Amino acid sequence: MYGEAMLSFAPLQVRVSTPRIELVGATDELLEQLQPLVRDGKANADPAPYDDPISLYEEDPAVRVHKWLQGIWRGRGHAAPGSWRLNFAVVLDSQPVGMQDLIGENFDTFGTVMSFSWLSTDIRHRGIGTEMRQAILHLAFEGLKATEAASDAFVDNAGSNGVSRALGYTENGVDWATRRGEVGLLQRWRLTRDDWLPHRRTDIRLQGVGDCAAALGIA
Ligand SMILES: CC(C)(COP(=O)(O)OP(=O)(O)OC[C@H]1O[C@@H](n2cnc3c(N)ncnc32)[C@H](O)[C@@H]1OP(=O)(O)O)[C@@H](O)C(=O)NCCC(=O)NCCS
Repeated sequence: MYGEAMLSFAPLQVRVSTPRIELVGATDELLEQLQPLVRDGKANADPAPYDDPISLYEEDPAVRVHKWLQGIWRGRGHAAPGSWRLNFAVVLDSQPVGMQDLIGENFDTFGTVMSFSWLSTDIRHRGIGTEMRQAILHLAFEGLKATEAASDAFVDNAGSNGVSRALGYTENGVDWATRRGEVGLLQRWRLTRDDWLPHRRTDIRLQGVGDCAAALGIA
């Protein structure tokens, strides 16, 4: 269990708690604890799961960590009404084990969100990826009143596509992208509010959402 973030930056005060995990606003203290996972390549997968460019593909571990941190801090600095990215550490048994982000582009106009996540290689395939996504969807639909959530993943990313399929997303076409310079096919997914409602959980708790929504200009 982590204490209150010392800085009163509203996105860092948000928490989403399920019976198994907690999503905690990614403070620098939590990033410090996630750093070894990024340095050791535990945020990656084979086949390559991310489209280019992404810092997690940097070969040199020091450069990888440097750019990963810069990206997160840049996101904090750019958070503004209509365009924001909320970074959460995924905490399991008091240990940060991965990240789950919620991204709102033109959220003030469309009410749509995207999600992004990674989980340490050594604890995959135990349902935690699904639990993380359920938690972030609860924040989006229940907390921020989103109208629709999207996700996309290369067609051979069994984990990410498995989570989307299990949670009621429907296929929303395909697109081309590169990963590590190679061309690959992306599967797009969408989950409307009506599709989410039958999957809505009653055991997820939200904290700090009101102040964060106000800071992001969400009514
Ligand atoms: C995506 C990720 C977070 C999923 O986490 P996870 O804890 O392993 O996922 P879960 O255990 O909840 O599994 C989710 C579903 O996918 C399936 N799945 C997961 N990994 C799989 C694999 N390698 N092969 C086949 N199916 C798989 C599971 O069977 C499950 O489906 P089910 O509910 O029908 O049984 C994790 O795989 C990861 O960090 N991958 C690398 C980063 C990444 O791909 N991020 C997304 C970028 S788009």
